[in-house]
Amino acid sequence: MASLVQELSQIVGAVFVEWGLPAELGAVRVSDRPDLAQFQCNGAMAAAKQAKKNPRAVAEEVVARLQTNPAFAKVEIAGPGFINLNLTAEYLAGYLGGIASDPRCGVATLAKGKTVLLDYGGMNVAKAMHVGHLRPNVIGDALKRMVRFAGYNALGDIHMGDWGLPMGQIISEFEIRNPEWVYFKADFVGPYPEEPPFDYGTLEEIYPQASNACKEDPVRLEQARQATADLQNGRPGYRALWNHFMKLSIADLKKNTDALGVHFEIWKGEADVNDIIPAFADELKAKGLLVESDGAQVIEVVADDDKKEIPPLMFFKSNGAQTYGTTDLATLYERVKLYPDLVKIIYVTDKRQNLHFEQVFRAAKRAHLVDKVELVHIGFGTLNGADGKPFKTRDGGVMRFDMLLDLARQKASERMKEAHLAQDLSVEEWNDTARMIGVAAIKFADLLNQAHVDYIFDIDQMTSFEGKTGPYILYQAVRIKSLLRKAGEFEADSALYLQEGDRALALLLTQLPEVFAGALKHYTPHVLCDYTHRLAQEFSSFYGNCHILSEADESLKASRLQLCRMALAQLTLTTSLMGIDIPERM
Ligand code: ARG
Repeated sequence: MASLVQELSQIVGAVFVEWGLPAELGAVRVSDRPDLAQFQCNGAMAAAKQAKKNPRAVAEEVVARLQTNPAFAKVEIAGPGFINLNLTAEYLAGYLGGIASDPRCGVATLAKGKTVLLDYGGMNVAKAMHVGHLRPNVIGDALKRMVRFAGYNALGDIHMGDWGLPMGQIISEFEIRNPEWVYFKADFVGPYPEEPPFDYGTLEEIYPQASNACKEDPVRLEQARQATADLQNGRPGYRALWNHFMKLSIADLKKNTDALGVHFEIWKGEADVNDIIPAFADELKAKGLLVESDGAQVIEVVADDDKKEIPPLMFFKSNGAQTYGTTDLATLYERVKLYPDLVKIIYVTDKRQNLHFEQVFRAAKRAHLVDKVELVHIGFGTLNGADGKPFKTRDGGVMRFDMLLDLARQKASERMKEAHLAQDLSVEEWNDTARMIGVAAIKFADLLNQAHVDYIFDIDQMTSFEGKTGPYILYQAVRIKSLLRKAGEFEADSALYLQEGDRALALLLTQLPEVFAGALKHYTPHVLCDYTHRLAQEFSSFYGNCHILSEADESLKASRLQLCRMALAQLTLTTSLMGIDIPERM
């Protein structure tokens, strides 16, 4: 299915082809000056150059031919040779009628079958999920939904931080506290207990204590290092204990990510590649890529045209330990093998990891691991408090993730009361609606900012029912739902009769295919947020200016209800791509 601008580009392109000029010159786009025209084509200038003619003369010829085309109500030349185009109401109505019952709202499938893996989340085991995890989860999940909607097989991998020094720190802390546990007995032959002798709360509490102890005491640090190495070398008691950490942590992570409405197809982590690292290292050595440097083994990644210094990727430290780069490179190696139709991996992490990914990507390219796979890193900015410093709780601590969601729910509930909304909901429905609005508020506010910028986390602003917010969008969508409920049955495929007051909304409804394609291509969910907000606003004006249920002309009423239904379908689609659900009532 062609989008509207594609359809128009074909019409205008055909005119250029008649002169033996390329059809691309007839490319039509939404006008930069909606006050002057609906669409524009700038090809006459380039055509004039190619045909060695005056641009206005070329534009005049194009206009003369287009004027007779039934698609256009008005065709005009502006400035040096811009062609301004306005559609007839019938043409616009015909186009919209063609996509009215399309569940994809006119957006074509852009890809088929190929796999794209998205690496986001990256939470660390035994550490409570906190406010810093909001962005990778929200952005990664939205990108995954977009990639999937485009037609790819999209897989989300949480890639947990489950293998480094923190694991050894916790193990040695437990060993000091509970030396009698079987996990620490050298002569124990198993089996180890199924259930952990501690709960997740204990684990979470122990980690910061263990980490502090290691900072203060070099002996403790050495113990933790040793425990990490023993764990990685497969010491059974330590592995059994680590399995407990994993089980408890994953249960807690699932609880938090479910509450946020973010999901993963793959629950792997750094540890999963441990066993393939030696063979992988041999391969790298055989290719001559792993070289010795001050006792360590590194992969050089400098390029001739580097403007800044890019240090080598540290593969094995001089003591033989792996690094973050080792596991990421090995994970890439494994992913390419596991998913033969993989075409892309998108990593979403804090932008402070830009250099790390530059090193990993360059090393992967040098090793020819990714000849058929595109690697993308989306580095996001910091979530700041009102003071412009990283967001903290009132007492200066890091806000836990469950507290964050609770705060959003409470604020949403206050806002609903202020706005006298949802007064006929039961307590249960009220809480559930507040929860949905809270999640929508933080997701929309996050996605609305370009990923790489730092932004201020302002819960009051983001939960407001006015302005460019998630709750505003939900409010407008719920308004349409209620309107359609009141309308009851109406002909869902009613023809559209577009009047003056319907035009802005009708025109906007044709733009989603280009908006979506742009947002997907540049990994910019904020473009989708902008569009969704414009659509909500446009619906609101339409609702204010036009008779809908009170319209006496039955065909016009049905046509307007049809526009409402299409607006709701698009709001539902675009918010679902952001991971936002729309309540039935509020
Ligand atoms: N666990 C890492 C961190 O806390 C994030 C992991 C991101 N993904 C990756 N493949 N490196 O910083």
